Amino acid sequence: MAGDVRIGTVVFPVAGLGTRFLPATKASPKEMLPVVDKPLIQYAVEEAVAAGATNLVFITGRTKRAIEDHFDTAYELERELEQKGKHDLLALVRATVPKDVNCIYIRQGEPLGLGHAVHCARPVIGQGPVGVILADDLIDGTGQPVLSQMAAVHQEHGGCSVLGVERVPREETDRYGVVSGESGGQGITEVTGIVEKPAPEVAPSNLAVVGRYILTPAIFDLLADTAADHRGEIQLTDAIAALLKHERVVAYEFDGVRYDCGNKLGYLQATVAYGIRHPELGVGFRAYLRGVLEG
Ligand code: G1P
Repeated sequence: MAGDVRIGTVVFPVAGLGTRFLPATKASPKEMLPVVDKPLIQYAVEEAVAAGATNLVFITGRTKRAIEDHFDTAYELERELEQKGKHDLLALVRATVPKDVNCIYIRQGEPLGLGHAVHCARPVIGQGPVGVILADDLIDGTGQPVLSQMAAVHQEHGGCSVLGVERVPREETDRYGVVSGESGGQGITEVTGIVEKPAPEVAPSNLAVVGRYILTPAIFDLLADTAADHRGEIQLTDAIAALLKHERVVAYEFDGVRYDCGNKLGYLQATVAYGIRHPELGVGFRAYLRGVLEG
């Protein structure tokens, strides 16, 4: 955790259908796809817990039951591992989420977009800032997990909202929320505008929001007032554009490498990156890859 900065509540919108990963995601959540030996959602939860989160709010949907089971106690499995003396595995199974952390599950009954998903968390949100993590953006923070880096920025900048951003190739702006603003140095941009998925020709910059947000609670009233866009979705980006009229918002170019695990190539890249430095598999996996590439 960064200093005494704590983001107590983190929302995980996990109701999306994962159509880019069909058929793998036909009956199971894309957030349960493993990178080496841990599902994507567990990396996201570990990042939230590292930033001090004690309330984890999952906005779920149909076919997402496996996520609840993953963070629940697995009695039969635990008893069996205990009886067989497999204590290392038992510890792994028990450590999916710390005991003092609350997991709260809220169903998003209709696919009305990311803004609607975040708004579904409203009944369990307190007075403090709220983190949002999109688990399919897996970010390997250099030294410090990205949400903790952003929590420090949030504190240094008077408790304002912080968007995790990175530069993307110009031709890809139509896949992201894109911000405009003035650079304040040290990876900070004072945001003056944000638009959802602009075509490259009209994008205000190539600074894209990549699945990490720290938002002040003012976002919830604005989400309630945000109209659906032409796709019938309530966009978080549009509510942030409204927030900008009332409050300061900064974008932060984090230290770390992002893998877009909502797409197959990004997922394979993450698997290789995490595989080659895995404590048990790394050496063997490197040797294997070398053989494949040279062979
Ligand atoms: C969502 C947001 C978009 C953001 C992106 C990051 O889009 O709407 O602003 O840049 O996540 O991954 P989605 O990928 O759900 O279409």
